[in-house]
Amino acid sequence: MAERFGDYQSEIYLRGLAGTKPPFTTDLASLDTVAARSLTPETFAYIAGGAGSGATMRSNRAAFEKWKIVPRLLTNATERDLSTTVLGTELSAPVLLAPIGAQSIMHPDAELATARAAASFGLPMILSTAGSRTIEEVAEASPVAPRWFQLYWPNDPDVCASILDRARRAGYSVLVVTLDTWTLAWRPRDLDKAYLPFLRGEGVATPLSDPAFRARLPKPPEEDLAAALLLWTAIFSGTDFGWDQLSFLRDRWPGPIVLKGVQHVDDARRAADAGMDGIVVSNHGGRQVDGALGALEALPPIVRAVGSRIEVLFDSGVRNGADVIKALSLGAKAVLFGRPYAYGLALDGEEGVRHVLRCLLADLDITLGLSGHRTPHEVSPSVLHRS
Ligand code: GLV
Repeated sequence: MAERFGDYQSEIYLRGLAGTKPPFTTDLASLDTVAARSLTPETFAYIAGGAGSGATMRSNRAAFEKWKIVPRLLTNATERDLSTTVLGTELSAPVLLAPIGAQSIMHPDAELATARAAASFGLPMILSTAGSRTIEEVAEASPVAPRWFQLYWPNDPDVCASILDRARRAGYSVLVVTLDTWTLAWRPRDLDKAYLPFLRGEGVATPLSDPAFRARLPKPPEEDLAAALLLWTAIFSGTDFGWDQLSFLRDRWPGPIVLKGVQHVDDARRAADAGMDGIVVSNHGGRQVDGALGALEALPPIVRAVGSRIEVLFDSGVRNGADVIKALSLGAKAVLFGRPYAYGLALDGEEGVRHVLRCLLADLDITLGLSGHRTPHEVSPSVLHRS
């Protein structure tokens, strides 16, 4: 039986008869202003901010605005089924929780809360290498849920192999390799506050619990945390690899591998030629290259070039159900959804993430039906008009 995500709408109205309102806004695009009140200025800026002038974040939203949905009528869209399968993972809807690191700066339950919330809807959480809870703890928090693992590619091969091995043994099925953040962008909002979570011991559960990393340290992190944090920073950031080195990952990861951060058609082709299983068309939510293309602009040519060879996913700027429909119509198999759930986590832990996901899924379900479709597989570019 397909999940009736749209029922969250009637639940909210019916509970309203007893005087109950939703825990916080259902308008996911305005969650940032609400969540700002629950966060320190540093942590809010870190989550909300982007690279340089913020132009890429604005371009991400502008790219969605250029496409308009053209609704169809009398299509028997009463019963809908949002489920789909991506790279062997069954999803209740074409949505994955984007990898976001250092979730302890948002809520003390951090990634455990997000993992439980995602699991309750049958959506995969993509756990970041920069998580605040270990790979194994997050797996224990969501034992039967689909789990993917995101890699920031460490320049120490033994540490990299050890992290991959842990993720595989803990049951993460798909590896998402983020390639656009081999070093951090120039981010004035963080620089002005001189704030980087990792140097303050947030988002470092992976290395601190890793035997290969710990073996590199003269003293255990429990005795000299500062030295461990500096070494980890040098290992997980600052090194750009080459296409010929992807075989290192392929040899050490038996399941599907997805490259995240693809914006150029030629890079999409190279990913397919290199035997990768998928790509995420993404500009890291506008956090890396200032003045870059809105990510949705990059999607159609990439789908045309490689969509029949590998799975193409989309990330960057998704805020509501219509955005998901637009990305799917332009050929994405599923979308990654990021900042809004981080704000939900900041506002109310696991329940906050659940509310945000329920809002997105209800909006997606209802908007899909009202535009005349019953499943994510029915949409295509003909659903859209470019203005
Ligand atoms: C790290 O992934 C960041 O965008 O801050």
